Amino acid sequence: MKLLGIETSCDETAAAVVQDGREILSNIVASQVDIHARYGGIVPEVASRQHLLTVIPIIQQAMAHTRWNDLDAIAVTIGPGLAGSLLVGVNIAKAIALAHRLPLLGINHLEGHIYANWLEGREPDLPSLCLIVSGGHTELLLMRGHRDYLPLGRTRDDAAGEAFDKVARILGLGYPGGPAIEQAALGGNSTLLRLPRAWIRGSDDFSFSGLKTAVLRLVEERKGLSPNDVAASFQEAVVDVLVTKTVEAALKLNARQIILSGGVAANRLLRQALSQRSPLPVLFPSPFLCTDNAAMIACCGYFRLKQGKADPWHLDIAPNLRLV
Ligand code: KG4
Ligand code: ZN
Repeated sequence: MKLLGIETSCDETAAAVVQDGREILSNIVASQVDIHARYGGIVPEVASRQHLLTVIPIIQQAMAHTRWNDLDAIAVTIGPGLAGSLLVGVNIAKAIALAHRLPLLGINHLEGHIYANWLEGREPDLPSLCLIVSGGHTELLLMRGHRDYLPLGRTRDDAAGEAFDKVARILGLGYPGGPAIEQAALGGNSTLLRLPRAWIRGSDDFSFSGLKTAVLRLVEERKGLSPNDVAASFQEAVVDVLVTKTVEAALKLNARQIILSGGVAANRLLRQALSQRSPLPVLFPSPFLCTDNAAMIACCGYFRLKQGKADPWHLDIAPNLRLV
């Protein structure tokens, strides 16, 4: 089965064709990073206008080697995300599905991130402990089966990626902050500065705003600090909390594996530390499948379609959609 996936929830316009939920036939991502960089973050109105300009050429590129008649369904992100951005993807998906009489599948963006782990020929063993770390979310859950999730914890304030972006801004490292912090940390010493970790004992929740504020105070109070050392210490603190709490939860719930996903899952220190400190096997997608893309949406749509679940024409966006 071949599915066309469409993703426009934030600042990436993406389309992909995936066969049988595993084989990526095309995967096109147009990033708006350069456009938003001068504002230090995403401007929603600018994002939706840009999606409008790029969505058709991106879908055409993704479909360059696939005939419309060979498609079995269209999968599109309905949320969570920016309303104006989601609307662009959902409306074009409806138009294509109607014109070609194809089933339409509305996909949760966070569930899409998890399914990036099914691409590249892997078949995760369930139940698996899932850690989703992106720019808008930090979620810990147990995946017991397809569409069967047990929520465990989430961030009480900033998402992990949001903390990377904000600290990068404080350090003047640019946007997006994750890759910039990772790069700066390579030239820094993570043991020179001791930054706080919010353990929230007895809960699987996370909190990163205290850490961000601690970095801000440190930078204001101690002039002449090396941004590389601050970046390295900050990255170490985030990774320490994410890894410790994820491994604890996985062992407590007898998970078979740990599945990492979302943009922050591209972070090398997080990937290494989780693999080293977990007694269970750890899966993570290639970095280009951790950040927003449409292959993960098509993959998730495939498993939904196999369960016989297509959506009706009045399918709508859900900017605040939750996974469970
Ligand atoms: O999943 P994603 O592409 O978009 C959302 O759904 O939010 O995640 C984007 C987030 C941004 O906050 C970005 O700074 C972060 O992922 N990110 C990283 C890295 N690459 C992207 N954070 C840490 N290290 C990275 N290498
Ligand atoms: Zn995302």
